Amino acid sequence: MWTASARAKINLHLAVHARRPDGYHALTTVFQTIDLADTLTIVEHDGPFTLRCPGSDAPEDDSNLVWRAAWALASELGRPEPAGLLVTLDKQVPTQAGLGGGSADAMAALRLLGEIWAVPPDRELLTRVGGRLGSDVPFFAWGGTALGRGRGDELTPLPPLPRLACAILRPPFGVSTSDAYRWIAESRAGSPPVGAPFDPPARAGDWLERLAGCRNDFEAVVAARHPEIAEAVATLRAAGAGLAMMSGSGSAVFGLFADAGTASRAMAPLAGRPGWRGWLSATSGA
Ligand code: C5P
Repeated sequence: MWTASARAKINLHLAVHARRPDGYHALTTVFQTIDLADTLTIVEHDGPFTLRCPGSDAPEDDSNLVWRAAWALASELGRPEPAGLLVTLDKQVPTQAGLGGGSADAMAALRLLGEIWAVPPDRELLTRVGGRLGSDVPFFAWGGTALGRGRGDELTPLPPLPRLACAILRPPFGVSTSDAYRWIAESRAGSPPVGAPFDPPARAGDWLERLAGCRNDFEAVVAARHPEIAEAVATLRAAGAGLAMMSGSGSAVFGLFADAGTASRAMAPLAGRPGWRGWLSATSGA
């Protein structure tokens, strides 16, 4: 039996620049691993490649990134199509939330299958195959705190953010990433994007002062359609969050706090609303 934890991410900063000729948008983003994680388990069995996601509505076919990861790695290695493996995905990370749950699962699958197929661990291979599965997948070959450029797949490690408590709120609705990019494009109507450039800290100790310069360009366009987003950000900020922001293209909102008690109290009023959910997590290293 092989097992791996697939930790989610938040974006501490997410600037969306112009659309590129290939249709993707150029980004400057800061990815940060958090403790909230799915768990992937693989056992050998007598039968075709099988994916199970018990207790979740995640797909169990080739529309799941775990399934696509298996096929992409087999093809990269010149192996026959995957068979004889039963993969169980225990989903804890909410979907359509901007927390990269599906991308983290895909990278965990690449790592485990690499182990099973006796491929030496190789970040370059994981990044390359991961990039074919989605723009966020390569980050999970790094983890910790990293700057993403290009379509989010060109990564540079950054000094680690100190460990902080992280309150996560997921409203009753999700956001599709391609919708969110379309909303950004519509809001800009061809005019060039504006905003101060991100200046990464040189040392871990500089992070806390740099959080003030962080922003997420998706937040305004998603909040324009879902005012609950702005309300959740304002609630976490008023409770003393060092940074409160929507993650990725939403719909989850996170707040970073020095201690877990404050984080927990900050999210309680919204987490208790019908359809909302809250998680107390923490930022973590690679
Ligand atoms: O790469 P991924 O499959 O996660 O992207 C989903 C969609 O989000 C893309 O089809 C594209 O419309 C949009 N996207 C983008 N620019 C990026 C990443 C994603 O426009 N940097």
